[in-house]
Amino acid sequence: MQHHIKEAVTRAWEAAWDRGEVDAFDAILHPDYRRESTRTGRQSDAAALKQEILDARAAFPDLVTTIDRIIVDDDGENAAVFWHTNGTFSNDLQGVPATGSRVETRGSNQIELRDGKVVRERVTWDQSELLADLGVPSLRSAFENDPSDVVVDDLSGVPGLDALKGFNRQFVTGVTVVTTIDEDGRPRGLAANSYASVSLEPPLVLICVQKTTSTYASLFKSTHLGINIMSNEQRGTVGVFASKSADKFAGLDWHAGPAGSPLIDGSAASIEAEIKERFQAKTHTVFIAKVTHAEIAEAEPMVYKAGRFFDGAALNELPSE
Ligand SMILES: Cc1cc2nc3c(=O)[nH]c(=O)nc-3n(C[C@H](O)[C@H](O)[C@H](O)COP(=O)(O)O)c2cc1C
Repeated sequence: MQHHIKEAVTRAWEAAWDRGEVDAFDAILHPDYRRESTRTGRQSDAAALKQEILDARAAFPDLVTTIDRIIVDDDGENAAVFWHTNGTFSNDLQGVPATGSRVETRGSNQIELRDGKVVRERVTWDQSELLADLGVPSLRSAFENDPSDVVVDDLSGVPGLDALKGFNRQFVTGVTVVTTIDEDGRPRGLAANSYASVSLEPPLVLICVQKTTSTYASLFKSTHLGINIMSNEQRGTVGVFASKSADKFAGLDWHAGPAGSPLIDGSAASIEAEIKERFQAKTHTVFIAKVTHAEIAEAEPMVYKAGRFFDGAALNELPSE
């Protein structure tokens, strides 16, 4: 019995993970099969498992899995599979651009059997784990729930995500243009107001970039980035960098920072920073970078609130009470 189960699991596993023959799992999965991630609590079914394998194989076409050990208990009702896998990150996965690097990832699956078939599976591994092995850890909370599960308390009668949008609209920021050089040596950039200073010692800054932006892939692959605080004189420049324009730098005066990042002339201030961490947050990536160079100008910064831009030189200071 135990021997039969071990053989069947190994055969299906290797066919699916190493050759992409995901229907091989039909031979060992019970019709009531459910899979649960021990990390996130997320439940999935056989179709989702097959899709996850196909997605992983598309990203790692040379994937090879080794089952290190299968233990089946005496009555054949529970089993544990210990495995590791190697592959080359050749194609994008979950919006993370391929790096061409080799990765080894490992995990263990706790299996419940019914009538000799796998009916429940609890797994230590999921795709966010794989991204962590690639050096791109995930913000776990972003992967825990489906977006529809997000609960935001009712604020001033506006429920759900609208309340968060309303909250953000009350927050006054500056506007930056985040820049880099792409693989073909061309300058790239986008408007961003998610900038925050993390700490002075060490000099760390943070920026959040949506994965669907055209600048994202080159930013992700870069070692450095530029952050330019837009001045009062750069309203037009913000419009260009908030667009999908093909060459946003055409007609723009800029110079390269010491590590090559585009620093835009006429900005209120510019920094160049070395990218230290890239955290996956589902739709966005949080970049944390260490500042290596700074240029501060006399120009007044532009102010942004609720979709509108304001003159940073015309702010009225509140009297102290
Ligand atoms: C004021 C302002 C702030 C923005 N902040 C961000 C941000 O923090 N992160 C982001 O990913 N996009 C942000 N955007 C949107 C991008 O600039 C926009 O999607 C742009 O078209 C992306 O260009 P790309 O796809 O060519 O990279 C902001 C836009 C504006 C106008």
